[in-house]
Amino acid sequence: MTHTLYSGPVVSRKCSALSGRPLIPGDKSISHRSIMLGALAIGETIISGLLEGEDVLHTAMAMRAMGAKVEHGDDGLWRVHGVGVGGLHEPDQVLDMGNSGTSTRLLMGLVGGCDITATFTGDKSLVKRPMKRVVTPLEMMGAQFMCRSGGRLPLTVKGAQDTLSIEYKLPIASAQVKSAVMLAGLNAAGRTTVIEDRPTRDHTENMLRHFGAKVDVEELEDGAFAVSLNGHQELRGSSVDVPRDPSSAAFAAVAALIIEGSEITMSNVGVNPRRDGVFATLKEMGADIRYENERMEAGEPVATIKVTAKNTLKGVNVPEERVPSMIDEFPILAVAASCAEGTTHMTGLRELRVKESDRLLMMANGLKACGVNLEMGEDSLTIHGTGKPPEGGAHIETELDHRIAMSFLVLGCATDEPVEIDDGSPIKTSFPNFIELMNDLGADIGEVSSSNDIS
Ligand code: S3P
Repeated sequence: MTHTLYSGPVVSRKCSALSGRPLIPGDKSISHRSIMLGALAIGETIISGLLEGEDVLHTAMAMRAMGAKVEHGDDGLWRVHGVGVGGLHEPDQVLDMGNSGTSTRLLMGLVGGCDITATFTGDKSLVKRPMKRVVTPLEMMGAQFMCRSGGRLPLTVKGAQDTLSIEYKLPIASAQVKSAVMLAGLNAAGRTTVIEDRPTRDHTENMLRHFGAKVDVEELEDGAFAVSLNGHQELRGSSVDVPRDPSSAAFAAVAALIIEGSEITMSNVGVNPRRDGVFATLKEMGADIRYENERMEAGEPVATIKVTAKNTLKGVNVPEERVPSMIDEFPILAVAASCAEGTTHMTGLRELRVKESDRLLMMANGLKACGVNLEMGEDSLTIHGTGKPPEGGAHIETELDHRIAMSFLVLGCATDEPVEIDDGSPIKTSFPNFIELMNDLGADIGEVSSSNDIS
């Protein structure tokens, strides 16, 4: 499928009611994992609904470079022939992971548990992001690293010869760190355990089970979770039907909620409770969001999500314990809060500072420029909404961050004055057809005309 690629400024103008049944693309987290586990499995893995965004294509490229066969068929399906756990080949080139933190951190775990050496690099955003969080536990498992200052890319991993199993308590709530340790643990002699105080997305656990591995999850007395697996388990190639991405669905959902008269229905969206915190929050704000036809697919809960614009949203306090289940959705929630009536307080957001950009800062700066009254703290954002969309009329810096870009294009659908972003190209990392999909629903998002929309 080809999509309009906006590599430069993009503008979003006020539109009237959105309606339709958009087909949201596949889940990014699950797509990465389906290729990685397919590449470690014995036999063929057939994947339908894979997100063909740049981040996932980087994972596919890296797994090919390490010996797996990863093919995209004319029938739209992806087929992966794996090398077996511990069977990865040493890549003979540097692995350029583009913008993708998930690919990099999970693959550091895979390489760290194998007796091979690989070097990772990435784009201007990825080389700024902290990797020490993955390096620390992988060193305990026997891997060695040579990194740039601050544990940043480019870095070289020399995987362990005899991978040690560990028990590791996550110092930060991070599914990427948990997954990196578990993937290295797949090739360790004993039992690897990761303890997390706050449950993060469990797609690695679900997908490992789907490929035939045994993964145990125990709730501890203090409410933490211990996730354990024995090493040297064989993975069997499987069929994976990737659910549609709730993080992408959230952009269309918020657009529908802030534009009067809108109604959209999105089928087959992942509604794993460790991912759907944004929908819970929007419902608390008074949104009419319904799950229909709830069921399980490939170990993951999915549903049809119906969103209807009925009431003006109301400001809320977002409970801090909910943060991991909506970690990627704070930018779009901040857009909803900017159109809501009253104050929305979000806290426990330190991790947002080290995502594809410093998302707290980028949202605070961009929303202020659009006329929103807010306060930013070290790890918090408080937004005072008036019950109406802000004025808009701003040019927004996005720092190669797809979610900042899409959030402001959604805001521009509702503001009286257009909202322009500096660069639409990062959107293709996670949601390559975002602009077409939004315009099919009735949005007015497009290239900036020479006459300049924003004065
Ligand atoms: C992801 C985990 C999250 C999320 C990222 C994808 C994953 O990061 O922000 O976009 O697929 O494991 P952390 O849980 O590591 O913060």
